[in-house]
Amino acid sequence: MKILVTGGAGFIGSNFIRFWLHRHPKDEIINFDKLTYAGNLANLKEVADSPHYHFVKGDITNPQEVRKAMEGVDWVVHFAAESHVDRSLEDPTVFIDTNIKGTYVLLKAALELGVKRFHHISTDEVYGALPLEGEEKFNEKTSYHPRSPYSASKAAADHFVLAFYHSFGLPVTITNCSNNYGPYQHPEKFIPRMITNLILGKKIPIYGDGRYVRDWLYVEDHCRAIELVLTEGKIGEVYCVGGKEKDVTNLQLAKMILKIFGRKEEEWLEFVPDRPGHDRRYAVDWRKINQELGWQPQYSLEEGLQKTVAWYQENEWWWRDTKKETEKFYQRLTERRKSNVKNN
Ligand SMILES: NC(=O)c1ccc[n+]([C@@H]2O[C@H](COP(=O)([O-])OP(=O)(O)OC[C@H]3O[C@@H](n4cnc5c(N)ncnc54)[C@H](O)[C@@H]3O)[C@@H](O)[C@H]2O)c1
Repeated sequence: MKILVTGGAGFIGSNFIRFWLHRHPKDEIINFDKLTYAGNLANLKEVADSPHYHFVKGDITNPQEVRKAMEGVDWVVHFAAESHVDRSLEDPTVFIDTNIKGTYVLLKAALELGVKRFHHISTDEVYGALPLEGEEKFNEKTSYHPRSPYSASKAAADHFVLAFYHSFGLPVTITNCSNNYGPYQHPEKFIPRMITNLILGKKIPIYGDGRYVRDWLYVEDHCRAIELVLTEGKIGEVYCVGGKEKDVTNLQLAKMILKIFGRKEEEWLEFVPDRPGHDRRYAVDWRKINQELGWQPQYSLEEGLQKTVAWYQENEWWWRDTKKETEKFYQRLTERRKSNVKNN
């Protein structure tokens, strides 16, 4: 099996490549990645010398580069995206280019080249937000209500993927998953930012009142879900993938991490101005993939966090330089939001 993975130098894509080659050592993977600020080939040093792994630097919005990389490929697993909500609030343009146009370019090439499976990685953020108090969860039938430029661009991409199935018969599948965490996640994202701050002796920033609720999925559990959908999923179907525990607030999550570090919460938490349009609650109902394909998350949030903290503690070389750039970005963002609050 020859698989083209887009965005394989990013967080989930690189975890997926290592996972796949470990479990399917005879397969061949081509990692097609533009290496934006979020892509890092160091994520793949364990497999870099494998004859079953090849890296191609390229842009999914470029039809010639895409076509060349996709020739002779059996499956496409599409991770490449601009993925950071805060960046989409600063400038949505590249989100439209990469997430919408890039997905379209890939779909068109996949159709022309007769690719046997196009698997698209999407997010639960396309469904919008749930009320804070309540039992409701997102599932495959939930209607789309994206609320940030990021989720709007992912929603548009999802619609194109399904349109290529219904209109042209391209064999597609989609997974809409909740927030991932685990090794090799960029320190701009919430969990690695908290962990790396604590390692460096800095406080944890909490947006608003911290009562935002997220659904956390350990990245290895996500990789197993994608594997099952690829090998046993039904063409044209969408599968929602989420974590074990529900209704953990950002504040509770921060406290769980502080507990792993053995630090006192009153000394290490810092409340910062809220993000505009911040979605209140996400919760994913993963009964379909459980009942049809037998998937369920294996890691509890506590186990996943312990493994993640240990990884960041042992791999400071991987995040130290990136962290400096990230903190400059957040400093600018916080100053802008503070001045917006003052001016309103
Ligand atoms: N991280 C999460 O919690 C999460 C949750 C739900 C869904 N997703 C989705 O999963 C996918 C992967 O997310 P991630 O967190 O690993 O993202 P990431 O930002 O860590 O990695 C994205 C990768 O895509 C590459 N890329 C960006 N633009 C490209 C382009 N034009 N051409 C080729 N490569 C390009 C980057 O270089 C990078 O390697 C995304 O589609 C994202 O929307 C992520």
